[in-house]
Amino acid sequence: MSLDAYVARTPLTAKEAARAQAIIPGGVGSAIQFWSPYPIYVKDSQGAYVWDLDGNRYTDYCMCYAAMVAGHANPIIAEAIAEQAKKGTLYGLPSPTATDLAEEIQKRYPSIDMIRFTQSGVEATMYAVRLARAATGKLGVLKVEGAYHGASDILLVSTGPRTIEAAGPALEPTSLIDSAGIPPGTTEHTHIVQFNDLEGLEHLLEKYKDQIACFILEPCMTNGGVIPPDSGYLEGVRELTRQYGVLLIFDEVKIGARIAYGGAAEKYGIKPDLICLAKAIGGGTPLGAFGGRRDLMEMISPLGPAVHYGTYNANPLTMSAGLACLTSVMTRDKYEEMDRLGAKMAAGLKAIIERVGLPACVTWEGPLGGIQFVPETPHNYRQANMGNKEMWTNYWYGMLSRGVIPMGSAWFEEYSISAAHTEADIDETLNITEDVLNEVKRLA
Ligand SMILES: Cc1ncc(COP(=O)(O)O)c(C=O)c1O
Repeated sequence: MSLDAYVARTPLTAKEAARAQAIIPGGVGSAIQFWSPYPIYVKDSQGAYVWDLDGNRYTDYCMCYAAMVAGHANPIIAEAIAEQAKKGTLYGLPSPTATDLAEEIQKRYPSIDMIRFTQSGVEATMYAVRLARAATGKLGVLKVEGAYHGASDILLVSTGPRTIEAAGPALEPTSLIDSAGIPPGTTEHTHIVQFNDLEGLEHLLEKYKDQIACFILEPCMTNGGVIPPDSGYLEGVRELTRQYGVLLIFDEVKIGARIAYGGAAEKYGIKPDLICLAKAIGGGTPLGAFGGRRDLMEMISPLGPAVHYGTYNANPLTMSAGLACLTSVMTRDKYEEMDRLGAKMAAGLKAIIERVGLPACVTWEGPLGGIQFVPETPHNYRQANMGNKEMWTNYWYGMLSRGVIPMGSAWFEEYSISAAHTEADIDETLNITEDVLNEVKRLA
């Protein structure tokens, strides 16, 4: 079994996991980093690869959940960080690097008139929702079933309903709180709609007329595998939100400066009111941002009444890393190359699934995508969640034990091709995948 093979080749990793688990819950910094019986503990990383404590090399397609767009330990970014560290890492005062990075992001996202930096995606979405509420004077928040926008109370709702019964009616899904400790009253304000469902959206906008401040939407879903928007969906969303006076927030934390140079706003040609960014813009350091219409952003303190604070906000270390990443590494040609490799991987995976004869499909957008163990292409989380979890588990451990981290350790994650991956990496991964999927079929 592949799980046994993984355990057999990771004795030092197992020892470290036991040490970590004694002092850190689960031995990990975030639940998503855990898998059974223990995750890889990393000794080194370079480009498209990470090495565990036992010296095993893995081709990494998780890439820190898409954040490492430039690859691990990119030398240009490493140098920018080292140079900045010599001049200071935290000032608690502004520095011009933040303005430089803000201008670079605005170049890519012309709809961002003004921007504020955070440390993470969860802060970006949390502050964007607060701003939307402040600007509209309304409390209601609409979000998509199965969409993850970070773990803040207001948005950690229906991020992954396990069954159709729990999820509730298709037209008006149930708001399900996803963590102990979140006040039950949260669901009073957070309403759920399915992805790619304009009818459901209109239904809720009408039902909660004059109560909804914003619709927060990942324009291409990445928490159910990759689920691209159906043709006309985003245009319909833009029209309906305008019609009902609801602010449209694009959560581009994972896909921003990732699926295209100018992210989803550029790729799909839609202008949201606010955009949340993180991951790729930080060049591998903890950075997030939210920005958009000037009249909205001018409501942020000290200009307006909506508070946004943070000791580490816009610190020179993350600003330098982000600036080096976006200006010196991730030029337009890098996005074309990632798209090309993404298309090669998607086509290769499709051909393998056909040859092996598995009830699975491939969903892909630019450099992000993966295998879904459902026979029909899913258009929303419910359809993706019907995938065969046992097949996915065998596939995931099979890849891992052969030196590939195909994605984060959950079926709803995806491949993230970076600027460091090469054609040879894709070829090698496809060869391994064919072996693994044959094994998956045998075990089914
Ligand atoms: C779409 C989306 N929004 C928000 C977040 C939260 O970002 P962070 O983990 O930086 O807090 C994530 C994290 O993966 C995400 O994928």
